[in-house]
Order: sequence, then structure tokens, then C-alpha cells
Amino acid sequence: MKKSSARLVSEQPLSMEEDVFIRPQRLNEFVGQAKVVNKLSIFIKAAKARDEPLDHSLFCGPPGLGKTTLAGVIAREMGGELKTTTGPAISRTGDLAAILSSLKLKDVLFIDEIHRLSPHVEEVLYSAMEDFSLNIIIGKGPMARSIRLTLPKFTLIGATTKPTLLSAPLRGRFGIVEQLDYYSVDELANIVLRGASVLSVTIDEEAVVEIARRSRGTPRVALRLLRRVRDVADARKMKVINLQIAKYALDLLGIDENGIDEQERKLLSVLIELFGGGPVGLSTLAAAMSEEERTVEEIYEPFLLRNGLIERTKVGRVATKKAYDLLGIERVKAFPEKDENLTLF
Ligand SMILES: Nc1ncnc2c1ncn2[C@@H]1O[C@H](COP(=O)(O)OP(=O)(O)OP(=O)(O)O)[C@@H](O)[C@H]1O
Ligand SMILES: [Mg+2]
Repeated sequence: MKKSSARLVSEQPLSMEEDVFIRPQRLNEFVGQAKVVNKLSIFIKAAKARDEPLDHSLFCGPPGLGKTTLAGVIAREMGGELKTTTGPAISRTGDLAAILSSLKLKDVLFIDEIHRLSPHVEEVLYSAMEDFSLNIIIGKGPMARSIRLTLPKFTLIGATTKPTLLSAPLRGRFGIVEQLDYYSVDELANIVLRGASVLSVTIDEEAVVEIARRSRGTPRVALRLLRRVRDVADARKMKVINLQIAKYALDLLGIDENGIDEQERKLLSVLIELFGGGPVGLSTLAAAMSEEERTVEEIYEPFLLRNGLIERTKVGRVATKKAYDLLGIERVKAFPEKDENLTLF
């Protein structure tokens, strides 16, 4: 394809917040996750035909893959309103009761990080999910009495990055459970293109692909990189983002060809240079990086694990050969390999 024909232009001015537009609004605008989208479109169609709300749905998967976006899309497709909250934000059963009693027929209640709901809040949720009723206790001691409120039929959508932490009774109450996967480069390229159109950015196809390649399979990363590349292009008064400026900007951001960023590279170099490639415990590794354990475990490690650059063993984190190769460091074995010909006696 010739460069000029690959150039994509969008002139439309933005009247509202870009972010609202950058999220796909309808199911047919949602890029990728074909299997999930296919099933959802069938379930939505069937629910609408029966004039019922969609069954409660649980979306699992790493951050930035579109769980929140899907919840919004479903609410729009079903013609209900989206109410959003998170597991840790509902600390008391009263908070949940207030949210639930404000729902209307076909509304979608989205609970992000649902694995972080406290057990007593979860229990109130069970009857709300199952029979659309709410049992609340009013008053204390001998004066306490239980009242039952009937709720309108709504859809609960839960999102979790850690499905294994979800209790079995809660998980069992979802009629639809879907796992979101990382996106292909082609799908990410489509998402970047859509983003460029919303942001009124003119970008070459090669630059789109370059951003997509370094986005680690994640739409949120792809859109963030697009914005940063746009900043660099704007600062250099370049009207079109071409491959050269995209590469320059991504290198400036410290994001390499594989999408590995500076913090992840730092983890690898600390692991290899300070601890001889491991094994080293999480707390020691985090302290050496001046980071919190949770940050290391939840933000830096997943991508390195997924790409076989580190391994989690019982005795700690270990750098793989691939990690040594990436940093251009030769792997010297801490303990010489056992020589079969040598015997002590
Ligand atoms: N399939 C998609 N098509 C187009 N854009 C997408 C898609 N999935 C996600 N995005 C975009 O990526 C960004 C992140 O998506 P979203 O917030 O839905 O992810 P998430 O899974 O809820 O993440 P988290 O677990 O961190 O809450 C949003 O700006 C959204 O517009
Ligand atoms: Mg989200």
C-alpha cells in the first residue's frame, strides 16, 4: 500500500469529552473479543425479545481489556441506565441497599473489582441477584426488625482481574461468565485507528501498526501510547504522525519493540545484576526497586511472566534465559553444573 493512500484523516471537531467518545458505545463498535461479543449479542437479543433484563454477567481479565466498556455497551443495548461502583467502595450493607433501591427496571449495576466485596455485603447481594429482593434489618437489639424490599429486575455486571478470589456462591449466581483475552496486533491497530479518528489525529498506517505492536495486547495501553505519540508530534508541530515520529516517541517513552517499559526492564536488571538472576523473594525484590510489593506483583510482573522473562518459583522470582538475552547479559551459572565424571570417592 502506498503511503499516501494509507494516510487516515479525521477532521470532525470534538464537542464533548474525548474519553466518552473513545469508548465504544454499541456492541458492533467493540473491536475484538469475537467469541464473547458473539455470545453477548445472542443473549441480548433473546433477553430483549422476552422483554427481560440480561442475566447477571461476570467479566474476568487483566486490566484495560474492556470490562468497564462492555458494561456500558450492554446497558446501552438493553436500554437501561448504567450505575457504576466498586467492591471496596461498598463497605457497609447499607451502602449496597441504597444503591440497589435506586435501580430501575433494566438498569445495569456495574461492580468493578467485585472480588473485593466484603462477605457481609456479598450476602445481601445474593438475594438481590437471585430473587430481586432485599432483606434489611432496621434498628438494633430487641427493637430490630427485618423488612423485605422488592427490587426492579436489573442486571448485575461484575468485573474482576482476579476471578480466583471470588467466592463460589457469588460466582455461581452469575448466568454469564466470560473471560476477556489479550488483543491481536490487528485488533489493536483498529482500536488505535478509532482512537485517532475520535482525537482528530492524522496518522499513517505504519505508525498505527507500530503503536499496536508495542501495546502489549491491551487497548488501554494502545490508546495511551497514541495520546503520548500525539503529544510528541504536536510539540514538533507535525501534522501527520508517521512511522518515524511514532518510533521516536515510543523510544522516548522507554517502550521497546516488545512493549516492555522502563520499570519492567528495571525489575529484570535488579533481578539479574543485584541478585544473580534469583531466586529472590517478592519483598526483597520490591525493596530493592523502592516499590511496593503490590505494584511489583500486579503491575510489573504479569507482562514479564506472560512473556517468559521471569518465573515465579516456590523459593522466589527467577530470571529466564530470555531475560538475560533481552538485556544483553551473559548468563553465568551460580552453581557449576554437576559433572557426571567427577566422584569424591
Ligand atoms: N474492544 C475495544 N474496542 C475499542 N476500545 C476499547 C476496547 N476495549 C477497551 N477499549 C478502550 O480501552 C480503554 C480501557 O478499557 P476499560 O476501561 O473498559 O478496561 P477494563 O477492562 O475495565 O480495565 P480495568 O480492569 O483496569 O478496570 C478504554 O478507553 C476503552 O475505550
Ligand atoms: Mg474497568
